[in-house]
Amino acid sequence: MTTLSLSTSPAAGLKVDALVIGVAQTPKGVVLAAGADAVSAAFGKGLLAALTGLGALGKAGEVTRLASLGATKAAVVVAVGLGPVTGTYDAEVLRRAAGAAVRSLAGTRSVALVLPADDAVSLRAVAEGGLLGAYAFRSYRRASLAVHREPVAALIAVTALGKEGKAVVRRAEAVARAVHLARDLVNTPPSDLHPAELADAAKQHAGGAGVDVEVLDVKALTKGGYGGILGVGQGSANPPRLVHLSYRGGKGSHKKVALVGKGITFDSGGISLKPPAGMEEMKSDMGGAAAVIAAVTACAELGLAVDVEAWIPMAENMPSGTAIRPSDVLVMKGGQRVEVNNTDAEGRLILADAISRACEDSPDVLIDVATLTGAQLIALGARTAGVMGNDDDLRAHVVTASGQAGEAMWPMPLPADLRKGLDSEIADLVNTGPREGGMLTAGLFLQEFVADGVAWAHLDIAGPAYNSGEPYGYTPKGGTGAAVRTFVQVLEDLAG
Ligand code: BES
Ligand code: MN
Ligand code: ZN
Repeated sequence: MTTLSLSTSPAAGLKVDALVIGVAQTPKGVVLAAGADAVSAAFGKGLLAALTGLGALGKAGEVTRLASLGATKAAVVVAVGLGPVTGTYDAEVLRRAAGAAVRSLAGTRSVALVLPADDAVSLRAVAEGGLLGAYAFRSYRRASLAVHREPVAALIAVTALGKEGKAVVRRAEAVARAVHLARDLVNTPPSDLHPAELADAAKQHAGGAGVDVEVLDVKALTKGGYGGILGVGQGSANPPRLVHLSYRGGKGSHKKVALVGKGITFDSGGISLKPPAGMEEMKSDMGGAAAVIAAVTACAELGLAVDVEAWIPMAENMPSGTAIRPSDVLVMKGGQRVEVNNTDAEGRLILADAISRACEDSPDVLIDVATLTGAQLIALGARTAGVMGNDDDLRAHVVTASGQAGEAMWPMPLPADLRKGLDSEIADLVNTGPREGGMLTAGLFLQEFVADGVAWAHLDIAGPAYNSGEPYGYTPKGGTGAAVRTFVQVLEDLAG
């Protein structure tokens, strides 16, 4: 990954290939943000006129590049827009600006970020944004520098913060590594990431950070009565798994946190086959699993004082002669019988088993995350995750943490009147309710498997996990690493 260091030196003299400064919008035109004046001075006051001449307005996400032609040691200066001018910039504005600037500088080796970052919150945002913008998924490309620009290799953040800054950098690096891992896992083609390989990735990354990793195969799943995971997995030639990650946050008693993440390595819909248009994006249906693996890895790297048990069900949802049929009944982990009226509502089936297992250890807090419903995109759009649950305080905590982390999440209800949509004629419940409120009925289905007394939150990240559009801010096309930063924030909060 890209390296990140701090500097208190005057920006104009830094030995880097490019300098990034902030510019902001005013009714009278573009102005320089804090930190940029030192760079401007090196130009002898011509900088603002040049930026104006190049059309810079200071709008959020805007990137204006100019050659310094000897004015600074760096050959290039990039002015990134921060939006309307203010005294202190919102952390997410800074995070996105740093990301957009670093993304635009792909092909450049070293970059100094000369943005307003003299307090810990701002520095954290600039550091995260810069590192998150320096991402490319290159595993499947022939190396050809003539066609593809490499992400920036070295970042320097210019800040007045001293010792405090070091801890900020360490955290930002762990978070960015985790987000990159989740993005890589989502971007990997499903032919190379079946349940077995996803379980191996959990072993490699979480295990490598000192987390205990246990992998339940078909034999163990059968013995344990995991009918949901086995049912969804039975149509595929690539058998399912349940990965259990166990992290102890050192001596003493800690909050017991259970995490569950949906790991469908490819969702064809099964016998209730999806239409072809956009089906390729269903390689991202393990985005919840990726977020949990990555977040637990970061938690261990940062040595957070919490105890985490993660249960990550993994299966490939395929149509075949051995696949479950609409009208089949599955006996779930907790003993409940589920009539499968739609094999494309597979996520809730594997999650239900994992939730039942997680509840056996009586966690203080249980959070599941899943690319669960197309209805999430209809309700909240592609970039805002829905947060549901049985505990208003926990739901509010997750939403607040997402705001601090710079991820868009919004509280959604689980209306009791929708529960009857899941009544079955012959079994305890069906897996699919009516179309209206589809994100909420999915949540209500999961709630059936949450033990009494366990505070539970459910995150639907169907849209946010995968960016089908153009890159923006620090977010690339494809896998985004959604929910990783929120999880790290929540775990930090619970560690106290
Ligand atoms: N993995 C999909 C949900 C999804 C849709 C994720 C779009 C990302 C983008 C899920 O398994 C699914 O197919 N859900 C169905 C549920 C329906 C059959 C009740 C859906 O949303 O259409
Ligand atoms: Mn599906
Ligand atoms: Zn799915």
